[in-house]
Amino acid sequence: PVLVLDFGAQYGQLIARRVRDLQVYSELVPCDISADEVRELNPAAIILSGGPASVYAEDAPSIDAGIFELGLPVLGFCYGHQIMAATLGGEVSHSDVGEYGPATLTRERDSALMNATPLEQTVWMSHRDAVSQAPEGFMVTSSTSVCPIASMEDPTRRFFSTQFHPEVAHTEHGGQMLENFLFEICGLEKNWSMDDVAERKVADIRKQVGEDRVILALSGGVDSSVVAALGARAIGRQMTCVFINHGLLRKGEPEQVEEVFTTQFDVDFIHVHAEDRYAALLDGVVDPEEKRRIIGTQFWKEFFAVATELEHDGRPVRFLAQGTIYPDIIESGARKTGGKASTIKSHHNLIPFPEGVHFDLIEPLDHFFKDEVRALGRELGLPEHIVYRQPFPGPGLAIRIIGAVSPEKLEILREADAIVREELDAHNKRVFRQTGERSGAGSVWQYFAVLPDIKSVGVMGDERTYARPIILRAVESSDAMTADWAKLPYEVLGRISSRIVAEVPGVNRVAYDITSKPPATIEWE
Ligand code: XMP
Repeated sequence: PVLVLDFGAQYGQLIARRVRDLQVYSELVPCDISADEVRELNPAAIILSGGPASVYAEDAPSIDAGIFELGLPVLGFCYGHQIMAATLGGEVSHSDVGEYGPATLTRERDSALMNATPLEQTVWMSHRDAVSQAPEGFMVTSSTSVCPIASMEDPTRRFFSTQFHPEVAHTEHGGQMLENFLFEICGLEKNWSMDDVAERKVADIRKQVGEDRVILALSGGVDSSVVAALGARAIGRQMTCVFINHGLLRKGEPEQVEEVFTTQFDVDFIHVHAEDRYAALLDGVVDPEEKRRIIGTQFWKEFFAVATELEHDGRPVRFLAQGTIYPDIIESGARKTGGKASTIKSHHNLIPFPEGVHFDLIEPLDHFFKDEVRALGRELGLPEHIVYRQPFPGPGLAIRIIGAVSPEKLEILREADAIVREELDAHNKRVFRQTGERSGAGSVWQYFAVLPDIKSVGVMGDERTYARPIILRAVESSDAMTADWAKLPYEVLGRISSRIVAEVPGVNRVAYDITSKPPATIEWE
């Protein structure tokens, strides 16, 4: 593999991802890995990521200098560039002017790394410290107006580094540089595909699990479904998938999940019907956070009740499988603390294991981004409706009913939501046919109905009605951090409105939410 040493960069996993996109296997490892450990992993090359620290800060992450003695090609970006300079005898200094965003890079001489890229090009910078003197044996290969040593290389030892970030899309020719490094400089071959990932993950799971039993909380979402499908291939019925039905899912969903995992995949599937217990707990509860707390707490209660009862040869279940993906880790750990990648494991503590209960964790997707998880799901034979399922909050429809949840309101929302999904699925398909891209421009990322806690007057037939409105929410986004309301064609909006009012009893009005995030959030609660 190509090892990416993570110095706490936002972009660490993105680098590994870019390398994998070029069909070379790559993994992220913590930056404090020792030279011996690196040797054991037998990598073909090393990439040093960026990071938030200053090389001279007290707790700045450092690197085992022995790694530079292994005879391996090394490529460093940003902090990786600076730490390479500092470790190999060059100098890094603070500067008064930082450089953030696009910058014009000028080539100073021939460079194996920048081969086949223009002499002047736009690169993406994000730094304040800078290398002020390259180590012995290095040549400076490019500069910007602010940064005299924007890149340097020692072709003999095959050490290369850049102050800018070739891994981000804003660096015009970053992809070419990465290709130069992998294929020209390291002489690697393209030999990695999703096929291999599935096989590799299956082998890993078998090895880790041995004869023991595994339990998985299956939500029906993409991530846990892919773990279930992997588990099915790896260990079959040694894995129990527990599907907790809280009664807050969308129309048809519980049936679909059950169908897929009882007929298409060979796992032990348990459908826990907890609808009534949730309904009782949520009765009269209005506050959104209170709803979330109740639903979350009850979820683990239900799950552990099943988990602790399952036994295997008289022994408790040993492993808990989870569909944690890389962005989850970032969100719960590294980003908040600004710490390096090793702090990422802290999210494990978020699972409230009851007293005396212990599971070893299996998280086969923790190095993947969502679209890689989808590709893996397709490879494993999961149906499209699961692989391309839009994000759906754990607390389900409870946070799309403003005010107290009741069976009647759930019924109204479910029916209205089904219409919204049907019409917008069709809209997305039309866009997909036109653009050839599933999440291309104009396609809607997340869409659903919201039921507010008000009524309004209307007229249907010759009768006055006093009934509920439905609010339509449809947004474009790539990561849910920011979102814009979707500029849907009027025909689509019109069809959704007339269908909902005609087909869902108790609804006499449809409104469209045209607020972006921020200032609003995607959900209403
Ligand atoms: P907001 O409403 O914060 O939502 O803009 C961002 C994304 O997160 C989803 N979401 C949740 N997911 N539990 C979840 O698993 C929750 O409590 C929750 N609240 C919001 C939301 O659907 C959107 O995709």
